[in-house]
Amino acid sequence: MSKVEVLIFENTDQLVSGFSAYFIDLIRQKDGDFSVALSGGSTPKVWFEELAINHKIDIPWEKVHFYWGDERCVIPEDKESNYGMTKKYLLDHINIPLQNIHRIHGELPPEQAAINYERELSQKLSVNTYPIFDLVILGMGDDGHTASIFPHQIELWESANFCVVASHPVSGQHRVSISGNVINNARAVAFLVTGKNKAEKINEIIHKKPVASAYPASLVAPEKGLLHWFLDSQAAQYLYDD
Ligand code: 6PG
Repeated sequence: MSKVEVLIFENTDQLVSGFSAYFIDLIRQKDGDFSVALSGGSTPKVWFEELAINHKIDIPWEKVHFYWGDERCVIPEDKESNYGMTKKYLLDHINIPLQNIHRIHGELPPEQAAINYERELSQKLSVNTYPIFDLVILGMGDDGHTASIFPHQIELWESANFCVVASHPVSGQHRVSISGNVINNARAVAFLVTGKNKAEKINEIIHKKPVASAYPASLVAPEKGLLHWFLDSQAAQYLYDD
């Protein structure tokens, strides 16, 4: 049963600064390479900028290996690409070896991209039934999705595969995502969530309300490690209503 820790920050700047301190501490605790699966969407952008500005040299980037928890099935140059966004706001600004970047090849047919990424995870990470990330960073959508496991395809969470092909419920855009078994096999999992439009579902998930069982984000429960919720005050606004 994973232990849950909720950390609330007044604003985004304090949130990303606190998240960097957590990230750096985990890296420093690990002997050898550190594997992290990044989330996509817009929230991580602010954190990537903070890392690029304030942590160019105090993080041993040569031991950090970047993976992604999910990717949109687009070319890296597409504005929708999670890898492309990370490259623009972080990777182009730090001295990290190219071989430490393990992107999902969204430009390939989705099934092929998923197979290739599953092979990469098998070859590059320790595997105990499922690959073991040192850290999986997750966002949460307004609908309670996480990575690219959406409520309308919540059955993908239980896939025995390391990677699944999902589709966005509105646009139909194909996505490649790691499955729930991989997420919950990580040594540490951290949500990074901001904004008032996430607040109601955050409250329902953290207080384990029955309605939350329909949200993939409610299924995150790392078997080995600690689950941290890094929230700004807007996303946390209902948590301590009496
Ligand atoms: C993606 C993400 C997804 C994201 C949430 C939150 O590829 O979109 O991995 O799970 O974390 O949709 O996105 P925002 O940060 O843009 O709200």
